Amino acid sequence: MWPALTAPSMPGKPHDDYAVSAEFYDILQAPKDALTVHRLYSHDVARAHVGVLDVGAGTGCVTVMSVVESRVDVHAVEPARAMRAPLMTRLASLPVALRERVTVHPQMLTEARLTAVADIAVCHNTIACMTPQSRRTLWPALAQALVPGGSLLLQLPPARLPDKETARAFPEQRVGRHEYGGRMVMSADHGRIRTRFEYWVKGREGVLRRHTETFWMWPALRAEIVADLTTYGFVPRPGQVDSSVLSMHLG
Ligand SMILES: C[S@@+](CC[C@H](N)C(=O)[O-])C[C@H]1O[C@@H](n2cnc3c(N)ncnc32)[C@H](O)[C@@H]1O
Repeated sequence: MWPALTAPSMPGKPHDDYAVSAEFYDILQAPKDALTVHRLYSHDVARAHVGVLDVGAGTGCVTVMSVVESRVDVHAVEPARAMRAPLMTRLASLPVALRERVTVHPQMLTEARLTAVADIAVCHNTIACMTPQSRRTLWPALAQALVPGGSLLLQLPPARLPDKETARAFPEQRVGRHEYGGRMVMSADHGRIRTRFEYWVKGREGVLRRHTETFWMWPALRAEIVADLTTYGFVPRPGQVDSSVLSMHLG
């Protein structure tokens, strides 16, 4: 028997974000997200001939779509331990022949140091939550991870701060005797977007528990991200999958 690890198994700062949200992420969002990621990325993923890189894999929505739609290796990069738990559960439910093509990298992309592993990289719902400084370190790591000619599909952050507080509710989902619900509340706060997730679980007797987790987002214009990526050899691809997705290739 191997000894139990009682200390962090990786050097550096632990990645404990999403400790609250991971429990609610898939039950509230996965079915809709699965349709969205299929619509946005499956066409390119199906044509991959080197590998697919999923940056900020979260619970694995893009990862699983990629392994199903392609015949190549898939690299899922996910630093948050809480998100890797549902990601690993999804992978465990796959047939072995699919699962053996997926490698999970439990770090940020800059720490994973991947070189020429993919010809398609997807950043879905990942860039918005990264600080401008983290984005600047991500661009060269993306260029390093792609082969020349490889494509990057990146879901853009909000272009600007919200004028007023806005809320978006997730449809409630029944699990046995309980209803799971949540909403996302966004407001401007000194150049950033405060994004508060509120979750609840209801039973017959009313609300059983409530949780919140707050994330920050940094707005950026499409042109700013294009300019940054151009510095690292990316050029815009002709055509557009969707106005929310930036598509570039490594020249
Ligand atoms: C909002 S979640 C989205 C997860 C998934 N892409 C989805 O749409 O369901 C953003 C994810 O990016 C991860 N992340 C943040 N910075 C990262 C980095 N530098 N490299 C890789 N992943 C990162 C976070 O841990 C988090 O799981």
